[in-house]
Amino acid sequence: MRRTHRSRLRSALAAAPVAAAIAAGALPAAAQVAVAPQEHGPHQQDFVHGVPQVAAPEWTIGAGGRIYDNWWEALDRDEPEGTNPAYPAAGRQEGEVTWRCKECHGWDYLGAEGIYRAGSHFTGIKGVLGVAGQPVEAIMPLLRDANHPYTTAMISEEEMLRVAAFLSAGLVDMRAFIDYDTRTVKAGVGDFDRGRAIFQTICAACHGFDGRAMDWGEGDDHNFVGTEAAELPDEVYNKIANAHPGAAMVNLRAFGHDDRVSLLAYIATLPVGMDD
Ligand code: HEC
Ligand code: HEC
Repeated sequence: MRRTHRSRLRSALAAAPVAAAIAAGALPAAAQVAVAPQEHGPHQQDFVHGVPQVAAPEWTIGAGGRIYDNWWEALDRDEPEGTNPAYPAAGRQEGEVTWRCKECHGWDYLGAEGIYRAGSHFTGIKGVLGVAGQPVEAIMPLLRDANHPYTTAMISEEEMLRVAAFLSAGLVDMRAFIDYDTRTVKAGVGDFDRGRAIFQTICAACHGFDGRAMDWGEGDDHNFVGTEAAELPDEVYNKIANAHPGAAMVNLRAFGHDDRVSLLAYIATLPVGMDD
């Protein structure tokens, strides 16, 4: 499938008058070879699933964010089976996704007040932003109450402490930089040049300068870093701040919030498809 796209792209470029301009560097270069996302290697197992001997707070908060995103991928556990008994009848999802924190509380931590106020991810459940700034000890009991039937075999106490650290110190109010009517990054937020500098020196190592080196779409349905940032900026903010669970990917937790927003604003301008 992928080979077909590449040859189609090549012949389109050969025929198009813009080909010369692209070759001269006047337009963004076309994607080179897009690879399917890869499994991480044995040498990366410790980085992806392990714990540093002396963990920096930034590591702990990011690790908690990855558990919030998808705990079984983050922690290398078996997928939960069946629908979460705590998932409300108002919701339209079923199966393992109903066990993800983000499914009930949102990528933007605002639950029913945020992006999931309508649509296929609606649950009517409130967000978690209200616990931001609260001590970890006050948050912990909430994560083991009847709304959260996670056993310690699923998420251990030590791992849940990372989640509580994330909720306490790692949340932001995305209404500051995302337009909630269009679900896009607000015009003018962040420092575009700073975002480009971070992307080209860090993210491009794996995603390529135009963000198209890694494609996690299927068939004609391409999904590059630019596609995600343009369509799901709230989700991508989480990937920037915490990384993708289960993948050997870096995160910007050790950078400031402004850097993360600048990067998000920049990647929302990267190509979204193979032919643009
Ligand atoms: C199946 C849906 C569901 C999932 C999945 C879920 N929660 Fe909740 N959560 C709830 C409900 C329901 C409440 C109670 C909301 C209320 O009080 O109105 C709640 C409340 C909370 C609160 C308290 C919010 C406040 O301001 O009082 C926190 C914090 C929280 N959840 C964190 C998490 C975390 C972390 C995870 C994943 C480990 C998670 N939740 C997964 C349904 C869910
Ligand atoms: C060391 C390699 C590496 C670096 C550096 C890297 N990533 Fe990734 N990224 C990955 C891998 C691997 C995946 C997982 C793809 C998969 O398995 O679906 C991924 C996935 C993603 C996803 C999509 C997750 C999804 O499927 O929803 C986004 C968004 C993303 N990266 C953004 C970034 C940004 C922004 C940076 C720079 C801060 C960055 N990445 C740096 C390797 C990397």
